Amino acid sequence: MAKKTLRDVEVKGKKVFVRVDFNVPLDQQGKVTDDTRIRAVLPTIEYLLARGAAVILASHLGRPKGRPDVRFTLRPVAARLGELLGREVLFAGEAVGPDAETAARQLRPGDVLLLENVRFYPEEENNDPEFASKLAALADLYVNDAFGTAHRAHASTVGITAYLPAVAGFLMEKELETLGRLLSNPERPFVAVIGGAKISDKIKVLERLIEKADFLLIGGGMANTFLAAQGYNLQASLVETDKLDVARSLLAKAGAGDGRVVLPVDLVVAPELGRADVRTNVPVDRIPAGWGAFDIGDETLNLFAEKLATARTIFWNGPVGLFEVVGFDTGTLELAKKIAAADATTVIGGGDTIAALKRAGVADKVTHASTGGGASLKLLEGRELPGVAALQDR
Ligand code: 3PG
Repeated sequence: MAKKTLRDVEVKGKKVFVRVDFNVPLDQQGKVTDDTRIRAVLPTIEYLLARGAAVILASHLGRPKGRPDVRFTLRPVAARLGELLGREVLFAGEAVGPDAETAARQLRPGDVLLLENVRFYPEEENNDPEFASKLAALADLYVNDAFGTAHRAHASTVGITAYLPAVAGFLMEKELETLGRLLSNPERPFVAVIGGAKISDKIKVLERLIEKADFLLIGGGMANTFLAAQGYNLQASLVETDKLDVARSLLAKAGAGDGRVVLPVDLVVAPELGRADVRTNVPVDRIPAGWGAFDIGDETLNLFAEKLATARTIFWNGPVGLFEVVGFDTGTLELAKKIAAADATTVIGGGDTIAALKRAGVADKVTHASTGGGASLKLLEGRELPGVAALQDR
């Protein structure tokens, strides 16, 4: 990797500020309902503790708009992290200020302190230098292991690197290498599967994947827009009418008729979202008047499976139907199983997509489930992430 990592620096006896992405879902009682992002940074934390460092963790949670908000406190995350580490995790009720300073000053090698949500301060998202310097003053070294937030230029991801030596953690390293390889040197055939509601969120990444992948399989709401661009009548389905030209130009970029872009040939349709009970599978040119598409059909799934069976590398982002609704979830769940069973390197990005893998019971069967949604897409667009650019070069 072009950037320095934890392995390149001495950590013994140091206070190490580790920016993590603990933006995890909490239930009504404030309990962590999915600890994947917490588990993902354990190797970095354990490495530091085993080498005699004290660890100061900082994260955002949700979008509290620059003020303290009890719904977004990181306190329950400290409890969960303590269970996972099997040791006490101290918690400071602020990210900067006298309490945070005292807690950080008193740390001994082997101690772990989690600071309160950095987004309780407007200065965080404004990348305010004074706020960044106060965060930096708590520690001797900065480690960024928050891949999921690396596309944000905030005080705790970028500003702080002006004041401390800054290196990547192990999760950051793994994410950058695995996702980076998709663009630089994927084992071929490389099949990318892109779903989700809208083209507009993913235009750049579609452009990139059309260049890099051998096959691009498209499902979900965005496939409707591609089909409409080809002249099909999608009836009441979600179609981005202002993106038809974009869809046409993406298809043209792939080269007309060479079969590299695979669109649905049939769809699961219903009169409305709440009527999954009367759903039916129809070819794309036979959608009943006034009905809408909510999932890919059986033929499409077979077509996708054929391409996936040849792949040596698979990247998947975005559900291919409204998988949160029973009856419209078959395409996405079956796709998850087929990808997990493929004899290929399988890389998955995006919160919804990973939720689908979990529902299909195959989350542990893929090579890499990225902890970054927006960040993984930005990286695949070929963009440099500000949180990575700010780290020291090797
Ligand atoms: C995410 O969940 O994608 C990251 O934690 C970034 O969160 P944000 O979109 O609120 O910046």
